[in-house]
Amino acid sequence: VKSIRLALLGCGVVGSEVVRLLHEQAEDLTARIGAPLELVGIAVRRLGRERGDLPVDPSLFTTDALGLIKRDDVDVVIEVVGGIEPARTWLTEALRAGKSVVTANKALLAEDGGALHDAAVEGGADLYYEASVAGAIPLLRPLRESLHGDRVTAVTGIVNGTTNFILSSMAATGAGFNEALEEATELGYAEADPTADVEGFDAAAKAAILASLAFHTRVTAADVFREGMTGVTAGDMASAREMGCTIKLLCIAQRTADSVSVRVHPAMIPLSHPLASVGDAFNAVFVEAEAAGPLMFYGRGAGGRPTASAVLGDIVAASRNKLTGTRAPSESNYAELTVRPIGES
Ligand code: HSE
Repeated sequence: VKSIRLALLGCGVVGSEVVRLLHEQAEDLTARIGAPLELVGIAVRRLGRERGDLPVDPSLFTTDALGLIKRDDVDVVIEVVGGIEPARTWLTEALRAGKSVVTANKALLAEDGGALHDAAVEGGADLYYEASVAGAIPLLRPLRESLHGDRVTAVTGIVNGTTNFILSSMAATGAGFNEALEEATELGYAEADPTADVEGFDAAAKAAILASLAFHTRVTAADVFREGMTGVTAGDMASAREMGCTIKLLCIAQRTADSVSVRVHPAMIPLSHPLASVGDAFNAVFVEAEAAGPLMFYGRGAGGRPTASAVLGDIVAASRNKLTGTRAPSESNYAELTVRPIGES
């Protein structure tokens, strides 16, 4: 049987777990897909960094990402580098050439997802990105497929693990923002530069992707009203508690007949709401659909291995489609809905 040949772009926290899972699950994956998966190259920024613990032939590493993508024998390109460029150039090139793409790149999808979908249609390729929002939680596929016979009216979620850890810790211990951030950094939740998390940029990108899929339209990060959570004080948290509430950084996407509104900001929620009990660095997304009613998705939204789990699921789907000559559901037929500013009804 012909193998499905994979090119991996990026070998950091998520990429190295992808490599490990591909190795650990090789037998099961082959059985599930009907063909073996073969990693033919791993593009990294610099060679020579110690990667001896990874179960791969060191000769697979290259710094020539574009060269790897352009290889005729590559079927599926997996991108876990992040950022807009050069990822946009790489993935557009891959899709136009008919290579399916699996990516975790929320910033790129939130800025230019429409163009990537168009490139996928042009090349007859698949574009999968389950890992871009809420890590391990199967969320995009339900929105892309399972709920397609229904009408989603609202998506409300905690989609940033770092800030949820900080706010949960403030609520539990009475700590202030800086103290809780310090703890999150020490425990490895917060990045050295936590700006994208605490200022809500990360959540806004995820909100744009969720709203686009939930409402079959195109929303970019720039359309999302955004307010970070650095202004939430220990006093705010104590007042919320007195009112039977807690404070979470929420993404809220709502649909009316011909418009959508999408926003990210700290919000008080009653302790009785299912999102109030989402602690630690977990994520949870509450989806409301007309026929289905309320649905709740919960799990680990960050971390190498949980995120790699979502990447692997997409690799299986894209590989199966390659083998059978089928395609993922396309998002090229989308509705032109107006994105309404917050507060405007
Ligand atoms: N910084 C992100 C978070 C990582 O804390 O949720 C996952 O996207």
